[in-house]
Amino acid sequence: MNDPLQTPEENVENSDRRQFLSKTASIVFGGAVVSVPIGAGVATLLSPLGKNDSGRLKVMLTSLEDLPSDGSPKLYQVVAQRKDAWTKYENKPIGSVFLRKRGENDVVAFNSSCPHAGCSVDLNPNGKMFSCPCHESNFNMEGGIIGKSVSPRGLDELEIDKELLSKGEVWVTFVNFKAGVTDKIEV
Ligand code: FES
Repeated sequence: MNDPLQTPEENVENSDRRQFLSKTASIVFGGAVVSVPIGAGVATLLSPLGKNDSGRLKVMLTSLEDLPSDGSPKLYQVVAQRKDAWTKYENKPIGSVFLRKRGENDVVAFNSSCPHAGCSVDLNPNGKMFSCPCHESNFNMEGGIIGKSVSPRGLDELEIDKELLSKGEVWVTFVNFKAGVTDKIEV
């Protein structure tokens, strides 16, 4: 729908942008931009594996409007395409991220890998906490440890680009952290 406060040119530009966001996800990696379709419920992002200048991978997982407004977490898988000098390896999963809306324009992101030994954490059937199936560590909706746990720390929160979030795009710096230690150490 057109915004009466915007010029016709701005409305056309914003319409194009919305269409792009509804059909594709983008990934910026080492300066390259690759756009691929978003699967139903799970965003699949394709990118060469490697390191950018800061050694970090920044991915657009979804749009703000795709996240449940009741604060329920949603899981997004990050799948990458790896290439070496001779071979191209298709669709290699490199991890997944839980996104949860905490307010109108506030989103929190957690790496779904358990900080104890790297199993994938699930959303508990009660929908009120995250649970690790391997050694029964539980985490609250803010990622904190619940009760007795073998996990040495809470879920690893990932950085979200606040500026792009204010424009309705959820961009996450995807990082894996060392398992089994108290400190959050990037690997
Ligand atoms: S890997 Fe999650 S509790 Fe052990």
